[in-house]
Amino acid sequence: MRQLKAEILSNKKVGSGFYRMKLGENYLAKITRAGQFVEVRCSSGAETLLRRPLGVHRIWPDGIEMLYEVVGKGTALLSEKKAGEKLDMIGPLGNGFDTDLASDINILVAGGIGVAPLTALAENLRARQNKKVHVMIGARTRSHIMCKEEFKSLGCSVKISTDDGSRGYKGFATELLINLLATCKPETYLPQFRRVMVYACGPMEMLRAVRAITLKRGIPCQVSLEERMACGVGVCLGCPVKMKTGGYKMVCKDGPVFNTEDLAW
Ligand SMILES: Cc1cc2nc3c(=O)[nH]c(=O)nc-3n(C[C@H](O)[C@H](O)[C@H](O)COP(=O)(O)OP(=O)(O)OC[C@H]3O[C@@H](n4cnc5c(N)ncnc54)[C@H](O)[C@@H]3O)c2cc1C
Ligand code: FES
Repeated sequence: MRQLKAEILSNKKVGSGFYRMKLGENYLAKITRAGQFVEVRCSSGAETLLRRPLGVHRIWPDGIEMLYEVVGKGTALLSEKKAGEKLDMIGPLGNGFDTDLASDINILVAGGIGVAPLTALAENLRARQNKKVHVMIGARTRSHIMCKEEFKSLGCSVKISTDDGSRGYKGFATELLINLLATCKPETYLPQFRRVMVYACGPMEMLRAVRAITLKRGIPCQVSLEERMACGVGVCLGCPVKMKTGGYKMVCKDGPVFNTEDLAW
């Protein structure tokens, strides 16, 4: 992990309130793993003194890319940045997804902007490990669906749900997950075979639902938590998550990815 001034190669609007930012940064390109994140200084002014955590969306040979949604002051300031400017950041941070545990069937469940880090994960599972990957993307409406084509071009099978039914299944991505698991032969996901692995990122309620669905069936599941953060490096104790074994872990340092069976939710 280093503090860097990365060059912005591009920063483009890609949907309603969504932006993609590419950064030329060889160090990050070399060592970042899917599921890790960076802490970004959105402006030099006092208004956004605290850095904002953003997941790494793609890892390219010469840099990284972020996909972010403008929700407040920090991300609004970020969206105004231009190619050629330098971005002050710390990274890569966190543990990332454990892809050594990848199964024959890998199911990625994305809620909203939770799709961002799952694209880097899909690339790892498809391009590097040639694993089967099913992606369930849940979005508010059709204009909030992100990354469908990216997943497809990586060779993933993709299913969409929208809250209002304007595209794909009307309902939640978790319902798509239940439907897909219903088509798997039970022996596929019996714990002793561990042939299915579920990975999820999105709103907390979605992650809790994914946890309940997978725990009930004994399917291993990794979730990436998007807690609010301050220091991002485990010092301020501002991002605790309760563990089953008692005590707390810090999402920034010990996560953001956790095995759901370890969480006391
Ligand atoms: C490990 C990690 C990875 C993340 N990856 C991404 C990513 O790839 N793309 C992306 O768009 N966002 C991501 N986020 C969320 C992102 O950090 C927040 O959206 C951002 O900090 C908001 O900053 P802001 O100044 O624009 O908004 P603020 O003014 O700070 O907040 C505006 C609104 O956003 C909500 N909000 C702020 N932070 C979070 C959060 N962490 N989770 C949920 N709601 C929040 C606030 O409650 C408020 O309603 C990630 C968060 C974490 C912890
Ligand atoms: S944000 Fe400071 S300990 Fe996690």
